[in-house]
Amino acid sequence: MTHSLPVQYNFSLRDLNTFGVQASAHAYLPVTSVDTLQDVKRDTDLVAMPRLVLGGGSNILLTRDFPGLVLHVGIKGIEIVDEDADATYVRAAAGENWHQFVQWTLAHGLGGLENLSLIPGSVGAAPIQNIGAYGIEIKDLFHSLTLFDFETGEQTTLNKAECMFGYRDSVFKHRLRDRAVVLDVTFALPKQWQPNLRYADVTNELAARSITQPTAQDISAAVIAIRTRKLPDPAVIGNAGSFFKNPVVTTAQRDALLQRYPQMVNYAQPDGSVKLAAGWLIDQCGWKGKTAGAAGVYENQALVLVNRGGASGAEIAQLAAAIQADVAQRFDVQLEPEPIFL
Ligand code: EPU
Repeated sequence: MTHSLPVQYNFSLRDLNTFGVQASAHAYLPVTSVDTLQDVKRDTDLVAMPRLVLGGGSNILLTRDFPGLVLHVGIKGIEIVDEDADATYVRAAAGENWHQFVQWTLAHGLGGLENLSLIPGSVGAAPIQNIGAYGIEIKDLFHSLTLFDFETGEQTTLNKAECMFGYRDSVFKHRLRDRAVVLDVTFALPKQWQPNLRYADVTNELAARSITQPTAQDISAAVIAIRTRKLPDPAVIGNAGSFFKNPVVTTAQRDALLQRYPQMVNYAQPDGSVKLAAGWLIDQCGWKGKTAGAAGVYENQALVLVNRGGASGAEIAQLAAAIQADVAQRFDVQLEPEPIFL
């Protein structure tokens, strides 16, 4: 097999996933432009391999070696592409770091993404799971994205409806999984910026800083402080943020649970369903701060699983399964993982 593409074989992915677990890719290729993807599409060996598209590696659990081709998206560039009476349209390439992109928008006087400060990962990965925090999801500011489709070999633009965004969900976790590679994402940042202060964590942090009329930059600083307190820095301790989604139940299920657990944290949703706090459920089962082998549950947030050093992906998956079993037994609620398992 000879390729003109700089493919590397038997490539370690340890430094490319924020859990920091060891796993190897049969083949690995950095993607710096869409031309690389067109070359892969034309290469009969490479295109036949199972494919994994990797961005910042912050939403994946590698439980085994990957027997195919890892495409590591590193396409760079940020620009303001348009503006109208309502919004400024900013396009960022998929390989840009998410947090640095948010800071770029704020430095250019464009508010909107500040509540999403310090989320690990890349711009291209953000729409895959519709990242969200402190009352905002990217779907709220999303305009469109460009992707490369391996099925057709074409570049396509998707609008918001076509992405089928849900809670930590999109078309890229379903129909387009491993088939599409996001090339860039365009956001519509509102001209009439309003602070989003729906979360008490944010208003409390601003109050502690004696800020009454926060700017987007103030909110970003507050969110950075909150996240730094609650969530482990992946550069220091391996993790993938929240490991489980917050489960959605019916009001009847909530009411039955509240009979037994009057303190249970729950949030009514606009559609009439109810979201429970998975961190609270796991905490109640006594898992917070626990260690199982080299895997563990973070001390300050029970929803975050950590690699305490040298854990394998399988070990972390085993811990996750034990937590799911406990929560199911005690609360009759099934927790669903947020990261993609491989
Ligand atoms: N709680 C506990 N014990 C814990 C953890 C949480 O009792 O160990 C309780 C808290 O006291 C609070 C509630 O559970 O009443 C919710 O906790 P928190 O505010 O920390 O938020 P979360 O629901 O656990 C979600 C997102 C986070 C996002 C925050 C803020 C999911 C799966 N997680 O966490 O997103 O930053 O809200 O908006 O929706 C991520 O997806 O990786 C992530 C970090």
